[in-house]
Amino acid sequence: MSHRFSIAPMMDRTDRHCRYFHRLLTSKSLLYTEMLHSNAIIKGNTNKLLSYSHDEHPLAIQLGGSDPKSLAEASVISEEYGYKEINLNVGCPSSKVQKGRFGAILMKEPKLVAKCVSYMKNSVSIPVTVKCRIGVDDMDQDAQLDRFIEEVSSEGCNTFIIHARKAWLKGLSPRDNREIPPLNYERVYKLKDKFHHLNIVINGGIKTIEESLEHLNHVDGVMVGREAYDNPLMLNSIDKEIYKETDNSLSRTEILIKLLPYIRSEVNKGTKITHVTRHIMGLFRGFHGAKDIRKYLVSLNNAVNPVDNFKFFLKETTL
Ligand SMILES: Cc1cc2nc3c(=O)[nH]c(=O)nc-3n(C[C@H](O)[C@H](O)[C@H](O)COP(=O)(O)O)c2cc1C
Repeated sequence: MSHRFSIAPMMDRTDRHCRYFHRLLTSKSLLYTEMLHSNAIIKGNTNKLLSYSHDEHPLAIQLGGSDPKSLAEASVISEEYGYKEINLNVGCPSSKVQKGRFGAILMKEPKLVAKCVSYMKNSVSIPVTVKCRIGVDDMDQDAQLDRFIEEVSSEGCNTFIIHARKAWLKGLSPRDNREIPPLNYERVYKLKDKFHHLNIVINGGIKTIEESLEHLNHVDGVMVGREAYDNPLMLNSIDKEIYKETDNSLSRTEILIKLLPYIRSEVNKGTKITHVTRHIMGLFRGFHGAKDIRKYLVSLNNAVNPVDNFKFFLKETTL
């Protein structure tokens, strides 16, 4: 499974509908779920949380947590559901997550992360990977990041996805923590130089294919979050430009026609049409009339036959 290009895990965004839509645009990129806490998987509505369409593959699940046994148990369940990789979140700075002693705060506890990875690895046969930051708070020196990577990789984690900015655990919201601490790609490149044998994936602020290709001169993979979501047409050229496959890019209308059977089957199962269509809004970014299209798509929830209305809209509108 290739990490050359992946779409970042994003809470409230990369749900199964979003991933299905993204998969129509790129067959090669690796997709990630939103973060799911290990306890939610063990004690919650497992089937609702973990179900997905097999068309979404290659698909990785991201877990949150810091109890090695629970993470191992959640990993076993995830593997049974067919996920191809289990990623541990060591990057989320939210105060709620900090209180639960998981996410970015774990960068301060490399031994605990190594133990979690060890338990997870020993319970499943699929890869266990880690997504982290270049640092947290005052723990932002190369030597500290090196130590973190050394400890965790010694337990068999071979792939690290590094958000190239540190997180401030006090005083910044999660959103600010994705904007304010400056990006430092050089530190991620340096990590790859030092840990040649590891698969290093860079993340943070990447907006174009050209930037992605430039990063790929230094590291093994690129992960893109917000730009992929807000401008999904970018994904149209990943297979060709990043994976050197034949060009299968589609027009907006072709994409939506391909999505239609999925929307129909979801609506027939009781899903509100907007639960799917909310993820396609970015397709109309910069498009004349985008605001009206968005308004129209939201209004479909009140329609008697929302899918037929959507089909009619596709027929009548030049996109
Ligand atoms: C709405 C939103 C939700 C996010 N949720 C998660 C998450 O569940 N797990 C995670 O590791 N990172 C999460 N992130 C961070 C992204 O995965 C990514 O690291 C970050 O946005 C930087 O990449 P980008 O500049 O390409 O967006 C989230 C980001 C956004 C914008």
